[in-house]
Amino acid sequence: MRYGEKVGRFITFEGLDGCGKSTHLERLAGVLKREGLEVLATREPGGTEIGERVRSILLDSHTHGMAPLAELALMFASRAQQISEVILPALNRGVWVLCDRFTDSSEAYQGAGRQLGVDSVRALHRVICLGLQPDLTLLLDNDVAASLARARRRNLHAAGDIDENRFEQENRPFYERVHQQFLAIARRDTTRVVMIDARRTMEAVHQEVVAAVHERLLSRRS
Ligand code: TYD
Repeated sequence: MRYGEKVGRFITFEGLDGCGKSTHLERLAGVLKREGLEVLATREPGGTEIGERVRSILLDSHTHGMAPLAELALMFASRAQQISEVILPALNRGVWVLCDRFTDSSEAYQGAGRQLGVDSVRALHRVICLGLQPDLTLLLDNDVAASLARARRRNLHAAGDIDENRFEQENRPFYERVHQQFLAIARRDTTRVVMIDARRTMEAVHQEVVAAVHERLLSRRS
């Protein structure tokens, strides 16, 4: 993998389930395309044929008894595939890659939520992801109760019989730990992570997403 030559930009969206990441990612993709940029939108877990198969094992609520370390390993298996097959080749071609979740989610959900330890997750990231870091991470912050209610409503009405509810069955303390870890990541990594208050209207959040990308990346293009 030729990580050193990347010329595109790598932007990730993070936050609790149901915080509106996917919608804002799509809207940002539209804005960047109108700026004349080549954009690729993807997600984790998933984003490749292999990764999507791993995703269905991870998220299907019929998956019972998965060991937390197996869950962590599968998240990174999907990520390794996606980095090799999709993200690095795109960045090396100058494409702007927008990814719905990345290692911050593993740190928050497996490291803190499942209590596997943040340091183990960060160590795996260094080995499996070659330390690849997003140029910018947009953390959409919302309250646990509001996020979960939105995610559960959405999945109740999800089209077809795709079942992605396994995480949403977790309890409130699990999600509180996840939330606190996202906040800790934002405090720790202020040059990479921009926290956006997602409790406001869709339009207000969108404007702030676009402003962050302009300020941090577009105005600094050479
Ligand atoms: P996602 O499709 O983004 O769900 P939502 O739209 O509800 O936010 O993510 C699927 C689930 O996978 C989500 O509950 C978080 C979880 N997840 C982890 O636990 N660890 C990870 O590393 C990633 C990428 C996701």
